[in-house]
Amino acid sequence: MPRFEQEPDPVFWELNASLSFDRRLAPYDVRGSRAHARALLGAGVLTAEELDELLGGLDAVAAELEAGEFPFESSDEDIHMAVERRLTEIVGPLGGKLHTGRSRNDQVATDLALFVADRAVRAVDLLAVAMGTLLTLADAHHDWRLPGYTHLQRAQPVSLGHHLLAWFWMLRRDADRFSAAGVAAGAMPLGTGALAGLNWELDREATASELGFDRLAENSIDAVSNRDFALDYLHAATVCSTHLSRMGSEIVLWSTSEFGFCRPAEEYSSGSSIMPQKMNPDAAELLRAKAPRVQSDYTNLAGVLHGLPLAYSKDLQEDKEPLFDAVDTVELSLRALAGMLEGISFDRERMEAAAGDEMAAATDIADLLVRRGMPFREAHGVVGGLVRHALANDIQLSEIGRDELAGFSELLDDEYYEVLAEGSWLDSKLSRGGTSSAAVSAQLELARESLAELAR
Ligand code: ARG
Repeated sequence: MPRFEQEPDPVFWELNASLSFDRRLAPYDVRGSRAHARALLGAGVLTAEELDELLGGLDAVAAELEAGEFPFESSDEDIHMAVERRLTEIVGPLGGKLHTGRSRNDQVATDLALFVADRAVRAVDLLAVAMGTLLTLADAHHDWRLPGYTHLQRAQPVSLGHHLLAWFWMLRRDADRFSAAGVAAGAMPLGTGALAGLNWELDREATASELGFDRLAENSIDAVSNRDFALDYLHAATVCSTHLSRMGSEIVLWSTSEFGFCRPAEEYSSGSSIMPQKMNPDAAELLRAKAPRVQSDYTNLAGVLHGLPLAYSKDLQEDKEPLFDAVDTVELSLRALAGMLEGISFDRERMEAAAGDEMAAATDIADLLVRRGMPFREAHGVVGGLVRHALANDIQLSEIGRDELAGFSELLDDEYYEVLAEGSWLDSKLSRGGTSSAAVSAQLELARESLAELAR
């Protein structure tokens, strides 16, 4: 470093160097450097021959990186310095021209934006795979019944297809959030320099379109300070992993002997080292547990950014590890979810037996009274009386005799027993988005269209 007489202290070096983690930005750094070199030709900084030579050198660097043969050195502070150092070794002092009109501040912001844009697309692709599997499952289990729960107490029966579609829509919203993070990453910082702009007329538009950005960061101070796109990705990842956690939690519950609703795929379960009978739903448990880790990645970066004056400060180097951790965690989780869903099986008998609990039809009997003119609150009280009576006598609601019914309300007649008859509750849920077979079919169609839209 030009103005320094002392070598950096090794402890400071260890604290300051980011190569150990930012080397995964290498492909983006090389891409950015190629585009920047072309802009330097346009600005008259490089001749055509020099540009060719630099591009050739960058190709060689890229090849070494890809082959895992890039000779990193302990004196490389970060990936940007490493690439430039190696380029200069390959092409000679000409390599030193590449950093004209560029600062590591706009360079690193550009690399990171390219990275986030790529991984946002990947997250959407992985979500689409899991959503496709959910649609297949929902279709196949379209009219299987299980209890729906509130407070984890049996509430009203629903169809399994309906419940699986609830998972589908959670993921569908995640896809929108990841896409929005990709859009946020679409403004190119490159060409803004350290913070104030450049002494060179670079064709930023051309560089942006070469790199796949759809617009320019319009303020040089903001360009080098902005990490909102990373925060947006982390937010999307936080909500997504929270969803995966809730799904994982249901699969864990459903696979207990107590519920017995599903059997996770063997390939996604493990045995116990001591209890031979065990098959544990480890994948579902881990999905359940990953969410706080991703949340803390979000909190980590939000904390780094909070109170940070503009423009670049070294604090911003701390943006990468939480981001990378969240990317790796969420991508692996999504792949595991898709794989786990591929092999899951459901136990129709267990679910139907649980759903057949007549108490779940209590609201429907109240609605019968309402159709006959009774205010709902009053009907709620009448049915409460019927439930108490059945529980006290250890009988089913349908076992209350026809003549006893009148004692609860004049308005109760044979239709009371029809409401309690098998299955009638499910198909009585007429409303759009409800659990009747017709409404679930309509919903499946909407979900299919919504997934197809994502692929467009
Ligand atoms: N390694 C740095 C980072 O990740 C690159 C930018 C360094 N800029 C600087 N002015 N020291 O943020």
